[in-house]
Amino acid sequence: MNATEEEERDIGCDTDGSEEVSQSVKSSSTTADSIALPQKRFYRQRAHSNPIADHCFEYPSDPQSMDWSTHYPNAELKVGGDCRGVEFADIGCGYGGLLIALSPLFPKTLMLGLEIRVKVCDFVCDRIAALRLQNEGQYWNVSCLRSNAMKYLPNLFPKSQLTKMFFLFPDPHFKKQKHKWRIISPQLLSEYAYCLAVEGRLYTATDVQQLHDWMTGHLSAHPLFESLDQSDIDADPVVPKLFDSTEEGQKVTRNGGQKFVSVYRRVKDSFAQ
Ligand SMILES: C[S@@+](CC[C@H](N)C(=O)[O-])C[C@H]1O[C@@H](n2cnc3c(N)ncnc32)[C@H](O)[C@@H]1O
Repeated sequence: MNATEEEERDIGCDTDGSEEVSQSVKSSSTTADSIALPQKRFYRQRAHSNPIADHCFEYPSDPQSMDWSTHYPNAELKVGGDCRGVEFADIGCGYGGLLIALSPLFPKTLMLGLEIRVKVCDFVCDRIAALRLQNEGQYWNVSCLRSNAMKYLPNLFPKSQLTKMFFLFPDPHFKKQKHKWRIISPQLLSEYAYCLAVEGRLYTATDVQQLHDWMTGHLSAHPLFESLDQSDIDADPVVPKLFDSTEEGQKVTRNGGQKFVSVYRRVKDSFAQ
């Protein structure tokens, strides 16, 4: 794939898929029926946002200063007991399909999508707000934050906070001079290892073999990650969701593309005290 094809592929990611979004929702009452889900065509934005550039972001100076109550109102009451805080992070969540798919599977786990593009993040927030109204008591455990995951993760999450991190269909950035924009790199993996609990899992999916090789190459070389055994992958209820729950995964399916998935676990740091 060349640069022009990459651009076309990414613009394709922004085409309207509102009917797919609607299919995932079952309305429970007449009032709920009247609550409209957002439509992608009203949230269009350029396909790429430079992750290295200085955008204007609001972010906490440290994780303790972050107020999650606006994202997950009354979380403690809903979890019943100690709330562990955000445990799953969907990095570059796009239009939020994975969060919506995982929400009912892990009803007491807080999950956050991180998305750099303003309007795409707005779409996910509006989608979740509509789903919460349509389905009383559901989807309260998912939310989305506009952020640059390449810069602010340690501001958001204390050490070992996360138990799962997802990198589904990340931008491939084919050109060599843009490889520094890729969301998986040796330096960033060390940050992800910091945020992940020991035995936490990091999931990747892509339709680009070259990017799959890049991601698994760096993950396998990193001392704090180990590839998961096939039997553990087969037993993981999240794995089937990696292929088709996101909008980009669904687009690859429509186009008959191949999908490459990997799962790594965070191992103990043998040098840690
Ligand atoms: C190709 S889309 C895939 C979206 C989604 N994971 C899916 O499978 O449909 C990649 C997404 O990652 C977002 N992204 C890229 N770099 C990011 C960063 N540094 N922080 C947060 N989001 C980022 C992009 O804006 C885009 O929405």
